[in-house]
Amino acid sequence: MCGIIGVTGVAEPLAVLLAGLRALEYRGYDSAGVALVETGGSELWRLRAAERGRSIDKLASEVVAAPLDVGAAIGHTRWATHGAPTEENAHPHLDCSGRVAVVHNGIIENHRELAAQLAAAGHRFSSATDTEVVAHLVEEERGAGAPLAEALRRCLPRLRGDFALALVDAGSPETIVAARRTAPLVVGRSDTGAVVASDIAAALATTRNLFLLDEDQVAELTPGAIRLIDAAGAECSPRPLAVSWDVAAAQKDGHPDFMAKEMAEQPLALRETLLGRLEASGATELEELGLDGPVLKAFRRVVLVACGSSYHACLSGRNALESLAGVAAEVDIASEFRYRDAVLGPDTLVVAVSQSGETLDTLHAQREAKRRGATTLALSNVVDSVMAREADAVLYTRAGPEIGVASTKCHLAQRAMLGVLALHVARARGALSDDATRRHAADLLGLPDAVSDVLARAEDHAAVAARHAAVRDVYFLGRRDGFSVAAEGALKLKELAYVRAEAYPAAEMKHGPISLIEPGALVVAVATRSGLWEKVMANIAEMRARGATVVAVATDGDAETAAVADDVLLVPETGPLAAPIVEIVPLQRFAYEIARARGNDVDRPRNLAKVVTVE
Ligand code: M6R
Repeated sequence: MCGIIGVTGVAEPLAVLLAGLRALEYRGYDSAGVALVETGGSELWRLRAAERGRSIDKLASEVVAAPLDVGAAIGHTRWATHGAPTEENAHPHLDCSGRVAVVHNGIIENHRELAAQLAAAGHRFSSATDTEVVAHLVEEERGAGAPLAEALRRCLPRLRGDFALALVDAGSPETIVAARRTAPLVVGRSDTGAVVASDIAAALATTRNLFLLDEDQVAELTPGAIRLIDAAGAECSPRPLAVSWDVAAAQKDGHPDFMAKEMAEQPLALRETLLGRLEASGATELEELGLDGPVLKAFRRVVLVACGSSYHACLSGRNALESLAGVAAEVDIASEFRYRDAVLGPDTLVVAVSQSGETLDTLHAQREAKRRGATTLALSNVVDSVMAREADAVLYTRAGPEIGVASTKCHLAQRAMLGVLALHVARARGALSDDATRRHAADLLGLPDAVSDVLARAEDHAAVAARHAAVRDVYFLGRRDGFSVAAEGALKLKELAYVRAEAYPAAEMKHGPISLIEPGALVVAVATRSGLWEKVMANIAEMRARGATVVAVATDGDAETAAVADDVLLVPETGPLAAPIVEIVPLQRFAYEIARARGNDVDRPRNLAKVVTVE
């Protein structure tokens, strides 16, 4: 999970490259590097830095030494997989001659085997990465006389794994070649230039005229032109990509960090996601889904698969599908689902939920579901993501680009979209009365205002967080949808503040974990009136009796809950579909403030990357 950018034929290629790398840094920030080909001298120039989080600044301060007349240029921002995050392992990687440079996102699974063969043929390796084999393989093909694109094409069948690659060669000063398998990569051209990038946001500074690459196609980029060849070497046409985002959408807009900006954008993300899909009458419009009423009615089971925050969204999605639509629903962690020999068939709809649409665990779960005969539906925020393209049906959240590693606005949008899907399926199955349908629709449509209301209480919620900033262990408790909120609150605190935080269905505590509770333990309980409030109150009492300090997420005006809690994070009362979405917002703030109080980088928490494209 790294970021790739490459440009040719553009004015100020280094500036474009560095800006592209900053846009891609969310994909990994262990190191960064660039390689440029000098137009006249046919020399390859490379610069790399491995100063976690500051590598791009370092590159920017040192590029003054770069050649002035640059043709093709590639850059990379790394999340280390094979090989420590050192400068030697930073991309681009070179062949033995130093004339071929490669950047790579993904994993070459058979790199050891290839490296052994290449070493036996006399190649010398200078990094511990899986990537370097590609430079040497291309070197071999170049040595055999193949032009650059053809050389890469011949190498692809020898590579096992998931990857996106971009290469330059000092012998072709204005050419970049690129290919992908599973990992994302877009290419684009302007009148005079061309670009390749891991995501749309990084490519937009060069052009909006973007195209998709199919698996194992090779793109050859030259100034103003893109040539594509397929796996057999035949020329083919690139598929245009519709782009709705602009560059500004990927900037911070005056917020201290992307997470703050993205939390503030949550009402808009919800509004956009609901727009045109749900009416006050309860009528749903999901024509884009491409699965009509009879098809939806015929499913006997829905299985939701996802990772991380997206998995937490699915916990509530499952509840909504069961209680509104009366369809059997279950949820699984994508990486577990993939290997558990799930019994699936044509009567099952598998919904793969992923902000990025490229999380490898979820992508493979979706592929496995398809292989086992289920109908697959991808719920993604990224248009034309790998999962979206491969699924039988697609729904998009419309949250806009999410840069902060911690999912916020996309997570809320996923939950809202799953709520609409549950209503839609319920209508198709005739499972809800008109009255109930209207009530649920009003609940969902009220979300943008309800979330704005919670965001306006940021100071109150931050003050509660400040009182607990030194916390070491936290137990997040909730029941039913409240548990999905607790799970998300715990994940946020862990990933941002590096605090040990565990989430439990509240009643489960007494089956073991309660022995951990002693004076000083902090319990965050989701105790709003929307859920199993009385039951949760009893569970809170059990914690208090053992000396725990309690922070409760509670409903406005609820004096009873306030009386048993040491602190409350108040939220407005909503209906059951909106409740978990509204309740998460103060827990995002709780984690954000504690992380900032500890001096952590909330946009780039340690050891994490925004998009997890390894297993
Ligand atoms: O792109 P996806 O929704 O598939 O990502 C899944 C998880 O990696 C992601 O939600 C992760 O847990 C976030 N860092 C949570 O904030």
